[in-house]
Amino acid sequence: PLKLGIMASGSGSNFEAIAQAIADRCLNAQLQVLIYNNPGATVVERAKRFDVPSVLLNHRVFDSREQLDHAIVQTLRQHEIEWLVMAGWMRIVTPVLINAFPNRILNIHPSLLPSFKGHRAVEQALAAGVKITGCTVHGVVSDVDSGEIIMQAAVPVLPTDTAETLQSRIHVQEHRIYPSAIALAAHSWKERSKL
Ligand code: GAR
Repeated sequence: PLKLGIMASGSGSNFEAIAQAIADRCLNAQLQVLIYNNPGATVVERAKRFDVPSVLLNHRVFDSREQLDHAIVQTLRQHEIEWLVMAGWMRIVTPVLINAFPNRILNIHPSLLPSFKGHRAVEQALAAGVKITGCTVHGVVSDVDSGEIIMQAAVPVLPTDTAETLQSRIHVQEHRIYPSAIALAAHSWKERSKL
């Protein structure tokens, strides 16, 4: 099984989709640790239900992004993770973290990249008036939301949509693609390292 570390900031519905896919044996992996940064984030309750140990690293107590990332790397190493999955992690990560797990960090973003990078991607899509948006699983590089695209899914934008209704339509697709995208990324990484 792939040894996964997972990082989340909020609700953690993607965390749950991945944990459930593992429990259902749809994804051959093990969740070694959840790192979260907001005390009281709902994702912690989900981790308890799936027996995944969780570690709070509150960014507010660190002096810089790099110091937070050093603590993250240390925690991930302690839990012997091979792949890092960012599932609604709302902090920008630095080369300290990225270089510790080269080509083995994934993120999910609620738009069809390269459109609507950065914060509030769902609101950006609504404001732009696009008729189709979606979600993207991609590799993490220093440039925000710019790594290799692993998998995408599209959803329609309806005339009646609010950010909430559009976000929940996107969430359904995120939950569907993230487990398979993890398996696909790990598979292609192994194939490439044979070359
Ligand atoms: C997801 O929609 C994810 O794509 C987005 O946050 C949500 C987290 O939901 N991520 C970003 O916006 C990253 N910049 P969840 O906590 O229910 O998984």
